[in-house]
Amino acid sequence: MKALVLSGGAGTRLRPITHTSAKQLVPVANKPVLFYGLEAIAEAGITEVGIVVGDTVDEIREAVGDGSEFGIEVTYIPQDEPLGLAHAVLIAREFLGDDDFVMYLGDNFIVGGISGLVEEFRGDRPDAQILLTHVPNPTSFGVAELDSDGRVVALEEKPKAPKSDLALVGVYLFTPSIHEAVRSIEPSWRGELEITHAIQWLIDQQRNVRSTTISGYWKDTGNVTDMLEVNRSVLETIEPYAEEAEVDDGSEIIGRVRIEKGAKVTGSRIVGPVIIGADSVISDSYVGPFTSVSEGCNIADSEIEYSIVLKDASIIGVRRVEASLIGRNVEVTPAPRSPSAHRLVLGDHSKVQISS
Ligand code: G1P
Repeated sequence: MKALVLSGGAGTRLRPITHTSAKQLVPVANKPVLFYGLEAIAEAGITEVGIVVGDTVDEIREAVGDGSEFGIEVTYIPQDEPLGLAHAVLIAREFLGDDDFVMYLGDNFIVGGISGLVEEFRGDRPDAQILLTHVPNPTSFGVAELDSDGRVVALEEKPKAPKSDLALVGVYLFTPSIHEAVRSIEPSWRGELEITHAIQWLIDQQRNVRSTTISGYWKDTGNVTDMLEVNRSVLETIEPYAEEAEVDDGSEIIGRVRIEKGAKVTGSRIVGPVIIGADSVISDSYVGPFTSVSEGCNIADSEIEYSIVLKDASIIGVRRVEASLIGRNVEVTPAPRSPSAHRLVLGDHSKVQISS
């Protein structure tokens, strides 16, 4: 069995963060979303992994390399244009050969991995197995309609009037019968070859398409609230660690706190679950629960809680930051006292809520 991981796409829903970075590399508890997927694949005993890449190929390659760090062997498959998930299967034909495979969308996050699913699929080998989850916003997904016995009767991509709240999760298990399906469909209104249509084709041909409903799922549907929430749930599982960091006597560390190598904490109070990335400096500050601070950040004389701070950002003399996503190299500082005004330099698609 092989894995096909999709890591192309533009990431419009997570702007402005994805203006400068691939959406699959957006960090959850300081680790790119994509890495959780690759770890889940390795854990399921799959070692041959094809990664379909687009414009952000360099960044993805730089992050994943040959896959040896994950215990997998990566083949990169370039997709010149984002022509759809079924198109990705088409162009991966040679890599996939006649093996069964799991297709994993690199921007999806599934709590608890996929080992159980892969095992179940290997045992019964239906033509396809899809994962479903209840979502509050089914119009943003592919949506499944089930009959009273729970069998999949129809799938619809981004429906205007969804027939259920069961969204297709971005993990699919296929036998080689999907190849005929992806060759048999036409592009959708958005100009893409939809995997949803290919699976519908299998259903129309009376093939065996099975579904499993899961909980514990996240995808980048563009709201920071969701991202903070998935960050929160992962932080709850981190192992406390501070062996390679410097924490002075004037600091207080409470609960599940992970402080990475070379980080420095002085005169501060950190209440977990919190992760502080390598080489970050926290001084005279409060870092409250459910906060991820990436590497190379500087937090001084500030208070922050329930937030994500990306690489090399600095927050100096600001209280209090809450429920926020701070991008790479961002600087947040107080404005001069007079005139009393907000001074903003914001990138395209930024969102700011000012308390005044
Ligand atoms: C794709 C699929 C959709 C699925 C979703 C899950 O959507 O087309 O059926 O529900 O992934 O992540 P897209 O990310 O292309 O909008």
